[in-house]
Amino acid sequence: MTKKEQKIQEGLENVIACKTEISRIAVEDGKGILEYRGYPIEELAEKSTFEEVAYLLLFGELPKKYELEAFSEELKEKRELPPQIIGLLTHLSPFSHPMVVLRTAVSYLGTMDKYIHYRNHDVSIEKAKSLIAKFPTIVAYFHRIRCGQKLVHPREDLGHAANFLYMLRGEEPNEIEVKAMDVDLILHADHELNASTFAARIAASTLADIYACIVAATGTLMGPLHGGASQRVIEMLREIAVPWRAEEYIKRKLNKGERIMGFGHRVYRTVIDPRTLILKRLAEKLAREKEPKWYQISIAVEDAVYKHKKLYPNVDFYSASVYANLDIPDDLFITVFAISRITGWTAHVIEQYENNRLIRPRAHYVGEIRKKYIPIDER
Ligand code: ACO
Repeated sequence: MTKKEQKIQEGLENVIACKTEISRIAVEDGKGILEYRGYPIEELAEKSTFEEVAYLLLFGELPKKYELEAFSEELKEKRELPPQIIGLLTHLSPFSHPMVVLRTAVSYLGTMDKYIHYRNHDVSIEKAKSLIAKFPTIVAYFHRIRCGQKLVHPREDLGHAANFLYMLRGEEPNEIEVKAMDVDLILHADHELNASTFAARIAASTLADIYACIVAATGTLMGPLHGGASQRVIEMLREIAVPWRAEEYIKRKLNKGERIMGFGHRVYRTVIDPRTLILKRLAEKLAREKEPKWYQISIAVEDAVYKHKKLYPNVDFYSASVYANLDIPDDLFITVFAISRITGWTAHVIEQYENNRLIRPRAHYVGEIRKKYIPIDER
């Protein structure tokens, strides 16, 4: 095929840009599929923990008991932040979006790493563990600092999910909350070549340091068409306020040609995202224990969007009700996504380093050509 005949694939839709062994997403027999390293997401959400899934994504195999214990211990040891990062969080404007703060902190962590440019496997794994361990602390500390509250330091007797909620809220979460947080973290940990992971891999393909790759990923996740959708979902649920107003609200938005946040997906177009099904059950469970209205309004919105646009909810939709019932502030929703996705991002960066080819596609130029240069005082 000549260059002229090549079809432009806007948004790189359906373009296979690399090989990966980390996760597989597909639509098979009318069902959405997500597997991490070959294991179905449904089974991992039911039987695993976030730490075990992080190990699986980074190392490629489920850990043996002693391997998981050692890995979990290492994460715990790496949770605390250097004083310089705490200083940074104190100096940043309390009105900054927490996601902007998170990406700034990642970049700052890079300045403190003497071996920032080392990219061999073992060193990269150590950097990945440190980032996975520190993400929840950065988010929780910044939140408490901006609220004028005392820092709640990490507790070594708590797992990753429980410790995050504890540092954020200042009190130990109950068992149902911990399980919900843990499952949510498992579900968001990786999703093949989504936009933020692709951004990380593009940076990695230039052999940029891992912090640079993660800054690229955090910046990309923030957009409302990607991870930024969940904050917009809760804002929408608040605006609707009661389930019976949902259909009118959705019809009005659709008639104006607006997008409904938390709906639609590039890959799961004709089927429901398998993570959504699990999150919906989780949201329902929390609604029975805590505030039921978020779940009730969500159900009404889901029905209305299907009725009027035939779209399914994506992973960001029911995670909004889950986070609201875990008492997570709206503008931290996306940071929770990042606390989980840092595992996938780092696993992909390492995979890219180890089988690298510079990612450098082409663009079809559609502007004017061969124009005559006019000197500035003649224009
Ligand atoms: N609300 C209303 N209409 C929608 C939505 C939506 N959320 N999503 C897609 N559509 C419509 C489009 O208007 C288009 O309709 P048309 O054929 O009548 O013109 C059709 O569905 C196809 O849409 P595309 O834009 O081609 O779909 P694309 O694959 O580019 O978009 C995306 C995927 C960006 C996720 C889109 O569905 C969207 O904007 N959703 C809302 C934002 C969101 O929830 N993002 C989170 C995604 S999950 C994640 O990143 C973690």
